[in-house]
Amino acid sequence: MNKIELIKAERDGLEIKNELQRFAEEGWESISEDNIQRLKWYGLFLRNPTPGFFMLRVRIPNGFSFSYQVRVLGYIAQTYGNGEIDITTRQQVQLRNLKIENIPNIFNQLEEVGLTTSQTGMDNVRNIMGCPVSGLSPKEKVDSYLLVKMLNEHIVGNPEFSNLPRKFNITLSGCPDDCVHAETQDLALVPAVQEKSGKSVYGFNILLGGKLGSGGYRIATPLDVFLCPEDVVEVCSALILLYRDHGSRDVRNKNRLAFLVEDWGEKKFRSALEERVGRPLTPAGVDLRGNEKSEHIGAYRQKQAFMNYVGLKIPVGRIRAEKLKGLAQLAEKYGNGEIRFSHSNSLVIPNVSDQKLGDMLEESLIKEFTYNPSSILRGLVSCVGSDYCNLAAIETKSMALKVAEQLEGKLPDTMPINMHWSGCPAGCGNHLVADIGLLGKKMRRGNKVIEAVDIYMGGRTGIDPKLAVKVMEDVPCDQLAQVLEFVVPYHTREKMHPIKGKKYYRRRESPMPVQTQKRIQNNILEEIKTSY
Ligand code: HEM
Ligand code: SF4
Repeated sequence: MNKIELIKAERDGLEIKNELQRFAEEGWESISEDNIQRLKWYGLFLRNPTPGFFMLRVRIPNGFSFSYQVRVLGYIAQTYGNGEIDITTRQQVQLRNLKIENIPNIFNQLEEVGLTTSQTGMDNVRNIMGCPVSGLSPKEKVDSYLLVKMLNEHIVGNPEFSNLPRKFNITLSGCPDDCVHAETQDLALVPAVQEKSGKSVYGFNILLGGKLGSGGYRIATPLDVFLCPEDVVEVCSALILLYRDHGSRDVRNKNRLAFLVEDWGEKKFRSALEERVGRPLTPAGVDLRGNEKSEHIGAYRQKQAFMNYVGLKIPVGRIRAEKLKGLAQLAEKYGNGEIRFSHSNSLVIPNVSDQKLGDMLEESLIKEFTYNPSSILRGLVSCVGSDYCNLAAIETKSMALKVAEQLEGKLPDTMPINMHWSGCPAGCGNHLVADIGLLGKKMRRGNKVIEAVDIYMGGRTGIDPKLAVKVMEDVPCDQLAQVLEFVVPYHTREKMHPIKGKKYYRRRESPMPVQTQKRIQNNILEEIKTSY
């Protein structure tokens, strides 16, 4: 058994909550290494770069929150933390520099406003993602938020789900714009339609076994199952429990659901699921995902008459608590107090009436976190980097902002481009599914160790997903903006992905022939050389 399995076998991770008061009284140094791991069941991560200080991850199902919750998050960050809040690409928030002595108090304050940190780390079902404009978008086929909420309530705090072989990512969206990276999730429900007795029934198809990160990239496999909304909680739960009971618990970088799917194959998995739910499942319906993508940044009409939502970019997802509280106030003044965190380091203020929209867009905070960012800033995403993450090779967030600023104005503003940064191969910044993916590393220049990146290009999610391809290695961060100026014009999907007719790529398989990769790399290098 690996070390984490031993820790779990000794005691369920959820039980650590009973010891929080004691830890608070005795201080962080009294907490054993095993218990430091168990604290991750409650989103508490002791960060090595800041000894004695914890990062706290708060679960926000579907990214949906209210102004009163945001105000408490802001208060906690200001009173007990460093005053900053990170909005993550799983639509949750992270607070930093918290001391264990304040945690019981902080947990009480979160609970009072209906927030929990439960099962946001380790081998649990992580925050369930969904479209941030669910219930608002005229394109949506099934309003999925309620289903996310029900599934979340069934899982969180339930010991049946608190000892999985590894983390488990779920996304559920009823909208054709696949904004939540369905193909990279362990379990994704994507919109679909079935004809039943001459009527169109809208529901979901199941995709299974997607993953990103250091153990390899795998695009989720369709399971040939259609789910009506009323079956979602039952079938998804059964599927997670299949993984709990049959997933490998050996080497941790081979434990994700993807490996069980590879091992069993789709057919065996499907019949095991039918056996578990005790009835035959309906074959997949027509997949309703389209080719369009949206970060939901901008001012858009809702399906409700005379109503609008406004999506704001929070550059690299980091915001001062007082500013977030300011935005919560605007959500109350102009909307209904809702604030929705999105997957793309942004947030959405919904339910703004036509009469109020003009005034809202004039507010200085709305101009600061703009609803109309440049194309470079719009698609910019970054993991946390070496400020707080001990695995990081480089500082990603500030570097991402700096490079974006240097590039702004140098590239045509019309070209939509996603630029994603990960500080190490764990790939938390999703660099492998971005137009431009940047993976941090250290390199030598003379006798100095400097920060650098490998550049990946041409990744994308959606109905025809593509794995990004490494086109350049060892580019020093201080020269990156100049290099990208030349690389970005090469970002056309046709150039990056000349292979036709192949839809799903298996783990570790390169989507582009090596020769084509080399040709692109040489072209870029040639252009850079001739222009200096
Ligand atoms: C061995 C693999 C991995 C390790 C060790 C790892 C580690 C970490 C750590 C330490 C953090 C928190 C850093 C901080 O904010 O202080 C983090 C956050 C995060 N990671 Fe990873 N990670 C791994 C794989 C992945 C993968 C494959 C993804 C998906 C693409 C991912 C997505 C995220 C996200 C979205 C966050 C932000 C918090 C959240 O909303 O869950 N990670 N990861
Ligand atoms: S990608 Fe690496 S550096 Fe970035 S948050 Fe994940 S583990 Fe840390």
